[in-house]
Amino acid sequence: MSNNSISAAAASVAATASLNQAAPERGRTQWSTRLAFILAATGSAVGLGNIWKFPYITGENGGGAFVLLYLGCIALIGIPLLMAEIMIGRRGKQSPPDAMKALAIEAGVSPRWQIVGWVGVITGFVLLSFYLVVAGWAVAYIFNAGGGAFAGASSDEIGGLFGSLVGDPLASTLWGSLVLAITATIVIKGVKLGLERAVTIMMPGLLLILLILVGYSMTTGQFAHGFEFMFSPDFSKLTGTSVLVALGHAFFSLSLAGGGMMTYGSYLPKQVSLGRTVLTIGLLDTLVALIAGLAIFPIVFANGLEPGAGPGLIFVTLPLAFGQMPFGQLVGVLFFIMLSFAALTSAISLLEPAVSWLTEKRGFSRLKAGLLTSAGIWLLSLGSVFSFNIWEEHKLYGKTFFDVLDYLTSGWIMPLSGLAMAVFTGWIMTKAATRDELGEGLGHRVWHFLIRYIVPVGILLIFLNAIGVL
Ligand code: PHE
Repeated sequence: MSNNSISAAAASVAATASLNQAAPERGRTQWSTRLAFILAATGSAVGLGNIWKFPYITGENGGGAFVLLYLGCIALIGIPLLMAEIMIGRRGKQSPPDAMKALAIEAGVSPRWQIVGWVGVITGFVLLSFYLVVAGWAVAYIFNAGGGAFAGASSDEIGGLFGSLVGDPLASTLWGSLVLAITATIVIKGVKLGLERAVTIMMPGLLLILLILVGYSMTTGQFAHGFEFMFSPDFSKLTGTSVLVALGHAFFSLSLAGGGMMTYGSYLPKQVSLGRTVLTIGLLDTLVALIAGLAIFPIVFANGLEPGAGPGLIFVTLPLAFGQMPFGQLVGVLFFIMLSFAALTSAISLLEPAVSWLTEKRGFSRLKAGLLTSAGIWLLSLGSVFSFNIWEEHKLYGKTFFDVLDYLTSGWIMPLSGLAMAVFTGWIMTKAATRDELGEGLGHRVWHFLIRYIVPVGILLIFLNAIGVL
């Protein structure tokens, strides 16, 4: 692997130039090394999805059987699609809609395929609107932890603390706005700046604290119970939509179909091997989620809490651990700082696609593009803030505004774009083109088989199951 970014850039400009005339400008940003890309992509993948969402949906869907479904979705659908998405970005070398369009033209099909890119950009926008609300809670908890609010507190007191944060529309809005402002500032300055360093320091730190928490969980006397809950499958505990939720979460957690991975792929030099890179990202992402679950469920059982408590699960269980363990105040502050960083590196990848499109196609400055998109996202985020307070009772089919956005994006829109990307890369792009990107050999053959048959059929079957046909 060459670290020479100049030759990398030259190689990719040459590759781009041969792709088609609509190919973009020279001098497009590039990751300086393979590691920079791995870090950015891992930063995008690892976030609230792993630590906040995975445990709470595992709790809501009965544990082990759901975890097994999730792992199956990651291995058979998520990882092949992650390769496909990054590959589209790298070969197209533009923002998602234009990358899709360029490849469609290359393959001799309708440029309308760019809709898939559009859906990615819009999904990123919508996801960020509720993501930043939860990230705001994580930031607020840095201060709760630092102020000693958890020390010796009972589960009721900690539940009350969470309730008063999310129940206060102003506080939630302010914390969320802070997250958005930081995200937008970094995106406006250019994603490469600082991202690499933030991920290098924060990611190992986060893993370390999660392991410390697992250590604490082992002292609660309920570790075996938590372990069994996560890993002993009982299929009777699955609910009607569990399979769809597992699939949707594989997308959410790997940052698939949100435009971010395609955009990051477009900054990736040609000679980096995609197969190994994507496997590394997928493994790390899964590992973090499983460790988070192992830290949380024993605490849930030791304190007589409800595994299916919903989005507040980590904000109620982990503070209990911090309140009881030695140096809990310090560990708690560090944990929420790192969680906030993990959320931030994901949020950046949710904003970048829209900004990259506006700057490339509309000629906006990054500042103008960043401000405009942030304003829209901020407005939409109010709906999610209000879902936990003044709009709590306004429900559609039993779901709040926040739940609806989450369900529509993760449950339907992202898997649908995944289906389209699988059809596009498996059936429309030529084998020569995908081989050119992914390399020859067994790896490519396995990928090609999965993306052609297993991914589309798997997604279709899960959809049929969700609408009750299967
Ligand atoms: N993968 C991120 C997480 O788990 C969320 C995300 C989804 C980021 C889609 C980008 C695109 O927190």
